[in-house]
Amino acid sequence: METASLKKEFQSRYGAGASPAVYFAPGRVNIIGEHTDYNGGFVLPCAISFGTYLVIRPNAENRMRFATSNFKYTADVPFAELGIKQGSEWVNYPLGVIDQFVKRGVSLQGFDMFFSGDIPNGAGLSSSASIELVTAVALDEMLKTSINRIELIKIGRAAENQFVGMNCGIMDQFAVGMGKASSAIFLNCRTLDYELVPVEMEGYSIVIMNTNKRRELADSKYNERVKECASALESLRKVRPLVDLSDMSIGEFLENEQVIPDKTVRSRARHVISENGRVLDAVTAMKSGDLGTLGKLMNASHESLRIDYEVTGKELDTIVHEAWKIDGVIGARMTGAGFGGCAVAIVENESIDELIACVGPAYHATTGLSADFYVATVGNGAGRLA
Ligand code: GLA
Repeated sequence: METASLKKEFQSRYGAGASPAVYFAPGRVNIIGEHTDYNGGFVLPCAISFGTYLVIRPNAENRMRFATSNFKYTADVPFAELGIKQGSEWVNYPLGVIDQFVKRGVSLQGFDMFFSGDIPNGAGLSSSASIELVTAVALDEMLKTSINRIELIKIGRAAENQFVGMNCGIMDQFAVGMGKASSAIFLNCRTLDYELVPVEMEGYSIVIMNTNKRRELADSKYNERVKECASALESLRKVRPLVDLSDMSIGEFLENEQVIPDKTVRSRARHVISENGRVLDAVTAMKSGDLGTLGKLMNASHESLRIDYEVTGKELDTIVHEAWKIDGVIGARMTGAGFGGCAVAIVENESIDELIACVGPAYHATTGLSADFYVATVGNGAGRLA
């Protein structure tokens, strides 16, 4: 997107005057490690070139104004009302971030903000973390608060947990805040230690397949999974004093799983613990260029999310299982929270056209929906553009 045209749009809404600043935060796609982050586990996401732009300028009033090119809803909020949630509107993401700045004792200044995003909404590519981080990075710079990047990432997550009411882990905000071009981020979500793993796979691409099935009720089902994991952890602590589910290996879990009385809760833990091991194996495979193994791990991840974690659904299952039928597809799985949204595949470049030509119609025939396909460009994390 052109920063000049974004600035023009800003000025037509808020008036000419001083030139505004422009910031950008990407979305993310997760290669493997799903629903492990809030269990202290490992993840392997990357930032993508889709994202959210924020055009911002101080105003001389004690109020914040919010508008976006993506939704009609706008807000004009005096400082005294900044802590009040606005239904389930998009402004809760920036409002939640501002709330965290206030909670950290930052004294505010009024701003006019215009957002514009090109991440498909509800697609599970972290449009919310992208809005949170673009707001946090811009406010930090404009208010000269010098909050470090990791703290800004924590602010983004806290906004979502405390203001929006979604008990997400830290993966999305971390990927959006720390992404690096051509690299995946191998992150330990408990310690926040991380390593960049190159994703240049000669002759292969990361393809995102959007089911265009919106993630309905995703937040409540997500929070239900978070609770189920907490319950599994409580039972497994009878075996030994674990800090997180991810402290157990799959071998130890299988020997002790009967201490979890509820069958469903047991399955949830089986997914988390097995998935955590798959991330470690996937990182080894990526580093040694063993795409075959990486693909098998991605496929196993999908099946674990389908059978044990039950977060896939007809649309994601159809698109992934259809993709598996294409010879040049090395591996494919759902990505993000699930319940709709996107899947990710590693595809031989020569087979991308075939993938789109075959999976698109087969998916439509089963679900009545049209899928979209994007070849992902792995980009940088949030920052100022102009
Ligand atoms: C959502 C959450 C993340 C993570 C994924 C599932 O994207 O925001 O914290 O839990 O789901 O891996």
